[in-house]
Amino acid sequence: MTKKTLKKILSLKKSNTGISCITSYDASFAKLADESDIDIILVGDSLGEVIKGLKNTHSVTVDDICYHTKNVSQGIKYAYLIADMPINSFKTKKQALANALKITKTGMADMVKLESTPEQINIVKYLIENKIKVCGHIGIQPQNISNKKFYRKIGKTTDEANKLIKEALLLQEAGVDILIAECIDGNCAKKIRNILKIPLIGIGSGNNCDGQVRVIYDLFNISFNGSPGFMNNKRLKKTPLKDVLMDYIKLTKKHLSN
Ligand code: KIV
Repeated sequence: MTKKTLKKILSLKKSNTGISCITSYDASFAKLADESDIDIILVGDSLGEVIKGLKNTHSVTVDDICYHTKNVSQGIKYAYLIADMPINSFKTKKQALANALKITKTGMADMVKLESTPEQINIVKYLIENKIKVCGHIGIQPQNISNKKFYRKIGKTTDEANKLIKEALLLQEAGVDILIAECIDGNCAKKIRNILKIPLIGIGSGNNCDGQVRVIYDLFNISFNGSPGFMNNKRLKKTPLKDVLMDYIKLTKKHLSN
């Protein structure tokens, strides 16, 4: 295996080779993903839900992200490492740059991801001008939603689809290298993917993106708040980690009764 540089990741769009991305929050899971040849590891602020056990991502801080990203960086040799900029960490240019530098220097992330609005495009540009690699995030932005029950598919109507296309192009023109699309209508995601030069990586956005990203605990079906509806692959419905744990418990009891 070789190091997944940004150049290599970007070339996967050109060669139409799917880009695989998974979240991780600690060295052991990150090592597992890295050794499985994952392209990108994302330290998502989904850690607010799956690690902290809360209803949303809103309590996650820059220090939380740095702590988990540093731990993940210890576990990987090859994967490209992206970390989220949490809620309220990029309100001004100055604050955004200070926090992005902290996440890339202390956390050792290769790139930061922002759930920015079009009104915050100057902040995105400012980070890029200052040599920070940026990943955008369009569609459902969990930082703006307090509870998963309010999640819905975006981009089914022409108005919404046009707005998303405009937003994606704005981010690309600003210099963003990768774009995440969360809960976007499949046809709309396909259109965006075909228009963009940069990779569009989807979650709950259909199969026609340049790559896919999932929360690792959803993949193992052990997420604290349950897995989202689009994790409907029967094979993935199992909880293999629970089977291992139950075997261990059985063995423990068996030893004593012998
Ligand atoms: O925080 C996160 O894990 C994310 C992914 C769901 C894309 O942003």
